[in-house]
Amino acid sequence: MRKLAAGNWKMNGTSAELGEARALLTAHPTPGCDMLLCPPATLIGGMVQIAERSALMIGGQDCHAAQNGAHTGDISALMLKDAGASHVIVGHSERRADHGESSALVRAKAITALTAGLVAIVCVGETEAQRNAGETLAVIAMQLEGSLPLAHDNPESLVIAYEPVWAIGTGRTPTLAEVAEVHRFIRDTLIRRFGDPARQMRLLYGGSVKPGNAADIFAVPNVDGALVGGASLKASDFGAIVAALGHH
Ligand code: PGA
Repeated sequence: MRKLAAGNWKMNGTSAELGEARALLTAHPTPGCDMLLCPPATLIGGMVQIAERSALMIGGQDCHAAQNGAHTGDISALMLKDAGASHVIVGHSERRADHGESSALVRAKAITALTAGLVAIVCVGETEAQRNAGETLAVIAMQLEGSLPLAHDNPESLVIAYEPVWAIGTGRTPTLAEVAEVHRFIRDTLIRRFGDPARQMRLLYGGSVKPGNAADIFAVPNVDGALVGGASLKASDFGAIVAALGHH
């Protein structure tokens, strides 16, 4: 299984920041893992040009559940694919919270993305209150149950990102034992649902991954990469994370 370092720029970056993608590629032309940046939609075209015939892959941060139609301001999986994207994130906690996205909607988006030929990165994660109440695994189970396609047999095209909501952008992370517990639980759940191919599905950890903690997190069993927000904006930081993952 090839590990995956995915960067999520969120609503950050204008054309001036395309240089970060160039710098990343210059420093890591042949990374030891898959390397993905998900910039805002306005930068996908420019970043795809920079990444042409390189090891850098480009993804979207969200897509609509429908293939096309009267949905002002939205972007479809087909449009992302057409622009040169290979991946799309769905069900990020900021989408779930800011836009009230349900797991059922996330599942519809994932299916549309897979149908369009994109790799779907489906995010799950508990809030701090849910963790404190001892509900973490129950919440993850429910989100997986509701957000994933019912059947799926290509392990390469479905990626799960475990992102505790309270760890996103806060500088706080779960203990390595807590990460291990949730990732083991997700793996077991996927195997029950999809069978043996799920052993090859990539499970990313996300939430305050930095160059300083990446190596420790990547040593945790069933952590096959990271979904990185803040630290993906700078080529030097993201490059260090890519290098740490390439060594595992
Ligand atoms: P962060 O964000 O790395 O800034 O915590 C992670 C994410 O939301 O994907």
